[in-house]
Amino acid sequence: MESSIPIHLECPRTRQKRVPDDYEPPYPSFVARFRPGVTQVAMAYFGVQYQGAETEGARRALADIAQAFAAGQAPGHWDRARYVDEAGYTNVISIAYWDRPAVFDAWFGAQGASWASGARKYQGCGTFTEVVRPAVERYETLFSANDRAEGVAVLADSMSGMVQEHAYWGGARDRIPASQTSDMAPSGAPRVVTEGLHRRVVPHENICLIRSGQDWGDTPPEERRMYLEEVEPILRQGMEFLRDQGVSIGCFANRYMRVVDAQGGDTEKSFGMSWWKSLAALERWAESHPTHVAIFGAAMKYLSTLGPAAKLKLYHEVTVAAADEQYFEYFNCHPQTGMLRVPSSPA
Ligand code: HEM
Repeated sequence: MESSIPIHLECPRTRQKRVPDDYEPPYPSFVARFRPGVTQVAMAYFGVQYQGAETEGARRALADIAQAFAAGQAPGHWDRARYVDEAGYTNVISIAYWDRPAVFDAWFGAQGASWASGARKYQGCGTFTEVVRPAVERYETLFSANDRAEGVAVLADSMSGMVQEHAYWGGARDRIPASQTSDMAPSGAPRVVTEGLHRRVVPHENICLIRSGQDWGDTPPEERRMYLEEVEPILRQGMEFLRDQGVSIGCFANRYMRVVDAQGGDTEKSFGMSWWKSLAALERWAESHPTHVAIFGAAMKYLSTLGPAAKLKLYHEVTVAAADEQYFEYFNCHPQTGMLRVPSSPA
């Protein structure tokens, strides 16, 4: 068994893990291993928003961003997902990952910065950019199986062997290398600055982002039935709670998204992605909200019984980003979009 914190990121602790050194988790899980030369990554969400049928502008925007990802300084991986938000707008987000910040910066300057600045005009849709560029000490990944990477982990060199720090509340925190010496507490509060159709968010310290995914594509009939009929409806309730009432518990925005293929069709993969005031607020929801407690319990039982034979794949990536590692920009989007739900600055 390995520690989820790679040796090159271990440091003398001032804070202790939640579990003793001889703790053994009840089922295996794995983390992405990046080569030591990777010191920072970029996780960039480029959204298109429209109401009703896909507009010509939205179609063009989606084609443009895909083309931009194929240009020089391309991301190491990208995918696309869709959901209809609480205001009834369809949001299609193209999510791209880089493992060299200088390459991301060069690409962003040439291709990405104009996406939601108002410099590009796409008729009949809004656009938004949500980016974090965390140092490797500031994020963690977790996979229930080691044969398929998703998200930032696609850029990694390999998957770890079985890791120790999981299957208990507080495991995500213990997997983030910065937790060895920091409580990663938030400070300040984000605020929105509006100029006409253009809005940006002035960030606060230690925002938390989670992308938590489910892949039921390989499940045989009984496992699929169990997931779709018993687990997914509870997950959906949890996601709707966060979407509609999340702000009261420190969740600024939650999107329960379906991954789409190159033609825009649904795949058998989904994920929840949400922006939180802090890692602590996310942890509180995960360990106390009846929906997540129920699916956590069901998954623990099921993974403990099936072990590596389970065909439902679960993964997540959790990031705690410094203020200078964040970038939020919205153009022509409705005021409940993403981080725009935080209070505005006085005019
Ligand atoms: C079918 C969907 C889901 C299932 C079955 C599930 C189940 C689990 C399980 C078994 C763990 C423990 C993993 C480990 O350490 O071994 C976990 C952790 C966690 N889950 Fe979920 N989850 C699901 C969806 C979500 C979603 C959508 C979110 C939030 C957007 C979320 C937030 C978390 C967090 C924050 C943790 C870490 C808790 C901690 O370490 O204290 N989960 N979940």
